[in-house]
Amino acid sequence: MTNQKLNTMGQEFGRRSWAEPWKIKMVEPIRLPGKDERKQAMIEAGYNTFLLRSDKVYIDLLTDSGTSAMSDRQWAGIMMGDEAYAGSRNFYNMEKAVQTFYGYKYVVPTHQGRGAEHIISQSEIQKGQYVPGNMYFTTTRMHQELAGGSFVDVIVDRAHDPSDQSPFKGNVDLDKLESLIARVGAEKIAYVSLAGTVNMAGGQPVSMQNVKELRALCDRYNISLYLDATRMAENAFFIQENEEGYADKSIAAILKEFCGYTDGAWMSSKKDHLVNIGGWVAVNDEELFDKLRNIVVIYEGLHTYGGMAGRDMEAIAIGIGESTQDDHIRSRIGQVRYLGELLVNWGIPIVRPVGGHAIFLDAKKFYPHIPQDNFPSQTLAAELYLDSGVRGMERGIVSAGRDPETGDHRRPALELTRLAIPRRVYTQAHMDVVAEGIKAVFDARDKTKGLKMVYEPQYLRFFQARFEAIE
Ligand code: F0G
Repeated sequence: MTNQKLNTMGQEFGRRSWAEPWKIKMVEPIRLPGKDERKQAMIEAGYNTFLLRSDKVYIDLLTDSGTSAMSDRQWAGIMMGDEAYAGSRNFYNMEKAVQTFYGYKYVVPTHQGRGAEHIISQSEIQKGQYVPGNMYFTTTRMHQELAGGSFVDVIVDRAHDPSDQSPFKGNVDLDKLESLIARVGAEKIAYVSLAGTVNMAGGQPVSMQNVKELRALCDRYNISLYLDATRMAENAFFIQENEEGYADKSIAAILKEFCGYTDGAWMSSKKDHLVNIGGWVAVNDEELFDKLRNIVVIYEGLHTYGGMAGRDMEAIAIGIGESTQDDHIRSRIGQVRYLGELLVNWGIPIVRPVGGHAIFLDAKKFYPHIPQDNFPSQTLAAELYLDSGVRGMERGIVSAGRDPETGDHRRPALELTRLAIPRRVYTQAHMDVVAEGIKAVFDARDKTKGLKMVYEPQYLRFFQARFEAIE
């Protein structure tokens, strides 16, 4: 294990020795709205960055989902769209790419990740069953609950500690999983829900060792193991960098090996695959495939398009190949780390090690004087927009929602504001501007008060909740 190199700052990040493996062919103008315009926009948006119009945003780090820049090859693929209702050639290209790079046998297309989550949850969860996983993700858990399951977090404890520097904070704690099995019985476990570079933990990866041990445990109890492969190519980078025996293996080889320990996966192609829309579920079991292929026609579309246009599937087919290239991943994660390094050097509290897709500001440390009930991460996202037109998102108590049993807020240990970096979109100069904006908000932190929630929707409240500033 080379985690020693994570111990000191300079060594953690290294000096950048990469440059993007592409040059820019087309640009999209962006504009910084004036201070008063930003203030007005924030009030109209109820202090929720999801409710801002994107025209009012200067640098948009709301999400890395569907926001990537496609390559000239992907755009060329778009022109090759075969918009047949059934049997589009683009589906077969996508299916082949999934089989080649992920190794699963059967592929069912969906319009995006949550469509895939919906059909796998409906197929594989019986009412009253448990779904253990390495930290919840908002839409994933929602679909598991809607299917009658209860999500149980079995991630390692250190995932909840933003300052713990260990390299694989996305790992499953096998003891936690085993004690759940002992408590409820293996037949009450629907499946294990494993995610690569765990989003809510700060983009923290899972080690190959962990998935191997997990596979063995699941085999012992005859439990299925499904993977949220949304950012699994990025997870492969961390294995290559930090796990013994993988330094000389390619991202593509590591990705395929990892998936080989699982029974199937769902995917939001909007992340790793460098496209604006799309997703899939892929499995090895033929019976389950039949079930998924049948359900998909109710909710998504025929099993050879699943809610996507033919051209979208072609862009995914090409994007899968590009997403697994070593130099792509290196520069992608290199850019995220560049931003992280600037912030750490200024003493700004962030989740470390820096993960794959985003910088997560530690809002608890940023605003120690704002109680969790006044939404420190929501406040920080709003303040950053007000300062510099940069849009991030809340990943704390608002995102965690309410406990369906008690109706109380779930109070996550992590209270984070996420700045997700779209792939191949912004330059290093944009990262400098973002860092300076965060610094300005940090310097003014003592004067900042929290927010109160004035409107709360029933499902996935973080998307549409509204707030007012506490005066
Ligand atoms: N799984 C993970 C780990 C995700 O991050 C997402 C989406 C999904 C599933 C659902 O996929 O959006 O295509 O329906 N994450 C986005 C984000 C929304 O900003 O992190 P989707």
